[in-house]
Amino acid sequence: MSDAFRSVIAGVGGYLPERVLGNDELSLMVDTSDEWIRDRTGIRERHVAADGETTSAMAAEAGKRALAAAGVGPEDIDLIVVATATPDMTFPATAAIVQAKLGVTRGAAFDIQAVCTGFVYALSTADNFIARGQSKAALVIGAETFSRILDWSDRSTCVLFGDGAGAVVLKGVPTAEAGERGVLGSYLRSDGRYVDLLYVDGGPSSTKTVGHLRMVGNQVFRHAVRNIAEAIERVAEGASVDIADVDWFVPHQANQRILEAVAKRLGIDESKVVTTVSRHGNTSAASVPLALDEAVRDGRIKSGDLVLMEAMGGGLTWGAALARF
Ligand code: ACO
Repeated sequence: MSDAFRSVIAGVGGYLPERVLGNDELSLMVDTSDEWIRDRTGIRERHVAADGETTSAMAAEAGKRALAAAGVGPEDIDLIVVATATPDMTFPATAAIVQAKLGVTRGAAFDIQAVCTGFVYALSTADNFIARGQSKAALVIGAETFSRILDWSDRSTCVLFGDGAGAVVLKGVPTAEAGERGVLGSYLRSDGRYVDLLYVDGGPSSTKTVGHLRMVGNQVFRHAVRNIAEAIERVAEGASVDIADVDWFVPHQANQRILEAVAKRLGIDESKVVTTVSRHGNTSAASVPLALDEAVRDGRIKSGDLVLMEAMGGGLTWGAALARF
């Protein structure tokens, strides 16, 4: 049975906190260097939230910008999905706080937790709500304050991450009217056998604390290239799309070397890859919508372009989504 509605990406928005933390400043805090960080990751700087600046505040700002870009108001939104691993509180969902901040008073709001893959999971979930007609206009947000869960004395992790938020508005358009536009497919995976490779060592039901991020970076790296390539191949196959026809690749921005290895493996031209990792670091669930926002605003991604998004993160989780703008 074909879906009644297609989720068309009607607007994109992003928000980065004002404070920029460069590699040189980091090298005064831990035993590292600008050269090591740039060589191994491609990261030059990242944004860090101000004291008191919360995930919901950044999510609401990105959401507001996406609503403005889509030309819709809070009264039009009937679903908010926030992908985050750094919620304001254990409960309620950050999405409920964002809902109130934006003045949205109807529909559902909930969070999705798939760490760096969160935005792809959230997009796929909202797309399913729209395809069945359960939502007419959804706000999908990825927002993180990883600076709050980093161990700032651990050089192997604290140099990698940054804070920020990105958002898209999905509008339900009857499939017959949507033509080629909209979300064409998604592919989601998880393999909980690898929890120990990337996790936070605290939580309400285990330690009653927030905890700090722990990662076996070189092992995560090995899984990343294989899993991301698999997700891209599967989503393209499912949507009957040839990878060569994709106009823009908007990957999760974890490490420049991962982006290059995936592009090489799948024969993707580097000029089609949107990269923000050098300036944003890894903003987890925010990285894909932040990169989308940048490429839409600077005119690279245009109406009619075929865009492929992918991510991998703690869980391990991974996935990909294809959309025509
Ligand atoms: N500065 C200087 N040296 C460092 C630093 C640093 N910041 N960090 C680690 N090192 C050292 C290590 O101690 C080690 O030294 P040793 O050989 O004396 O023991 C050496 O550098 C090599 O360490 P590796 O971990 O093997 O380095 P690698 O080349 O793998 O790079 C990195 C590390 C950048 C973390 C890489 O493995 C990576 O990007 N992994 C993937 C991370 C990722 O993709 N995460 C995605 C999901 S994130 C999420 O879901 C939240």
